[in-house]
Amino acid sequence: MSVDLEKILRPVDTPMKPYEPKYMMLASGEAVVVRQVERDEIPDLLKHVEPLLHVERDFYDVVSARVYSELLAHYKHRYQDQYVLAVQIDGELAAIVNGRQVNSKLGMSLHTLALRRGLRVGAHAFAAKMEYHIDTLGHDEVLIVAESPIGFRRWMIEYKLEKRFHIPHELGGVPSWALTRDLFDRARSSLVVGRRPVPDDLLDKAKEAILPPSDPPTPPLDPLAATRSMYDPTASSLMRQRWEMEGRSGDA
Ligand SMILES: CC(C)(COP(=O)(O)OP(=O)(O)OC[C@H]1O[C@@H](n2cnc3c(N)ncnc32)[C@H](O)[C@@H]1OP(=O)(O)O)[C@@H](O)C(=O)NCCC(=O)NCCS
Repeated sequence: MSVDLEKILRPVDTPMKPYEPKYMMLASGEAVVVRQVERDEIPDLLKHVEPLLHVERDFYDVVSARVYSELLAHYKHRYQDQYVLAVQIDGELAAIVNGRQVNSKLGMSLHTLALRRGLRVGAHAFAAKMEYHIDTLGHDEVLIVAESPIGFRRWMIEYKLEKRFHIPHELGGVPSWALTRDLFDRARSSLVVGRRPVPDDLLDKAKEAILPPSDPPTPPLDPLAATRSMYDPTASSLMRQRWEMEGRSGDA
């Protein structure tokens, strides 16, 4: 009985060509590998997404909460036609991107999450997923939204995305933007980088283990940053937390 119900609840994924891994050198001189993550590797990503739920800055909280939910649902077979790519520097997780196929001509971009800042790894990860949609899956266009001003700058402005405001995006029903094949072709020479095949040693290292990000975004040490959402107008409980963090008793 329960087995039959699982057959109804579990979506049947449409076969999709795999993403062919690539590598590139960052401005820092480090080699980066972009590769598709298998379903059984999802828990290795989730543990590094979870801490970002508490980072309000740059909308990491909203984006990571959504990414967590999408990845978990994908892992447990509750998401239709989702793919996930990881960006790794020497094994270390530097960015995650995901999306899904709506039909053979239309892609839906879900999220881009950078776990290492300041090196454009998020921008490279986004370019890789657009490459996957347009070149590998053969989509004519990809629907995209931005949750953060940095995202808006990176996608809408840099790629000169077209408005599709009559189409509510799957992410919150907000108006969509679109990357067309033509726009992608125009961006190729400046925004899409990377080489194939990935040398064996680099790919083996990436596949061996998803290592923790070495310098992920973290919440501010000063908890006063969160007072506005708490019932603590005098901030006394937060002052006590801060004193505890500083090793003081709190009754000074
Ligand atoms: C949007 C995002 C993927 C872009 O990643 P990215 O291309 O690697 O870029 P970064 O976030 O590292 O840097 C963005 C800008 O902020 C600056 N910056 C912000 N925090 C920084 C930090 N701690 N160190 C260095 N630079 C930082 C960078 O200099 C850069 O400036 P630039 O646009 O003039 O180059 C990433 O900011 C992110 O994951 N944000 C939170 C989730 C999000 O909004 N996702 C996109 C949803 S639409």
